[in-house]
Amino acid sequence: MKASVIRQFGGPDSFEHCDVNVPSIGHEEVLVRVLACGINHYDLFLRKGDVTRDLSFPHVMGADVVGEIEEIGSRVQGLSAGDRVIVAPGYPLDPAEQDFEPINLARSYSVTGGLKWGGYAQFMAVPARFVIPNPPDLPAEQLATIPLVLVTAVHAVKTLAQVSPGQKVLVQAGASGSGAMCVQVARVLGADVAATVGSDEKIGFVKQLGAELVINYQTCDFLDQVKEWTNGRGVDAVIDNVGGSVFEGNIRALKRGGHFVNFGMVGGHTAPYAFPLIFYKHLHLHGSMMGSTEELTWGLEQVRAGRIKPILDQAMPLRDAAKAHKHLESRRTRGKVVLLPW
Ligand SMILES: NC(=O)c1ccc[n+]([C@@H]2O[C@H](COP(=O)([O-])OP(=O)(O)OC[C@H]3O[C@@H](n4cnc5c(N)ncnc54)[C@H](OP(=O)(O)O)[C@@H]3O)[C@@H](O)[C@H]2O)c1
Repeated sequence: MKASVIRQFGGPDSFEHCDVNVPSIGHEEVLVRVLACGINHYDLFLRKGDVTRDLSFPHVMGADVVGEIEEIGSRVQGLSAGDRVIVAPGYPLDPAEQDFEPINLARSYSVTGGLKWGGYAQFMAVPARFVIPNPPDLPAEQLATIPLVLVTAVHAVKTLAQVSPGQKVLVQAGASGSGAMCVQVARVLGADVAATVGSDEKIGFVKQLGAELVINYQTCDFLDQVKEWTNGRGVDAVIDNVGGSVFEGNIRALKRGGHFVNFGMVGGHTAPYAFPLIFYKHLHLHGSMMGSTEELTWGLEQVRAGRIKPILDQAMPLRDAAKAHKHLESRRTRGKVVLLPW
């Protein structure tokens, strides 16, 4: 089969589009013919060696897989060749933990394509229990924009921040793949949303997702804007995938008793702690990593009902994996980039 593999850590040009063996499947696995695979910023970190240095090469990454079942293992029940499926964007690798609930808290939980081969290929092997049959009826390249950012957004916005109707929520990096999904989830939950972007070209895009206020942080101070938007009160929740560079502003933007949820760090791993701000304001600080099966199911119901839409920036052939990673690194994307292996 064709795959875009990396043979070492490095820049986008580390990808090689080549022939590799189709993965063999175990008794409880299925072989999925990959129709589309979404790219996540996680893949950029993985490629650079920032997620783990303990990867065997060649490696095939890719967490957001939409496909059809090509072959089923001898002990698999309830699935047939030809079924259309989504692959869970993360699952516990240790078979002893496969019943762990919520799955994202299992010790061996890993983003799909992180340690085992993923979807930058024409086929991938996956435990049958971690494929989701009967996904929403959308074209594969649209559907592949959804699973990882959806489960992340539902866990962060609904479960951890407990966003409810009428609340005010600040979403950092509102045009990013995950930020754009958080804007949508917050709107579905009935919140008013402010979001940040790094250029004026992204403002209209994020407004279309339902944000009331979109702030270009390159031209004005997001904290001032948020204070004005909330009449000085502060927001109920900050949903943050940027990390270090905006930490203090995020903390200052919150109201008393507000929820801060972080799940990303494109803007840096560390920040000075503003302890007095945290305890005087009775803030709730949450670290968030992916989400549970129930959260993904809830999110997919919203997609089926048309309340959450796929946000496809661009689909490219699998052989253009390097170009696709460069595009994401350019920070010009609005939503998601997807690879097509056939
Ligand atoms: N923990 C989890 O479960 C989980 C799940 C999904 C994503 N994440 C994390 O969330 C982060 C975003 O992921 P994504 O896939 O949504 O990213 P993405 O689609 O590639 O978007 C990243 C955006 O972040 C903004 N940004 C702000 N400061 C930046 C900086 N210093 N360097 C680069 N970009 C910066 C840029 O938009 P502007 O130029 O408009 O600011 C950029 O386009 C990553 O850290 C990722 O690992 C974590």
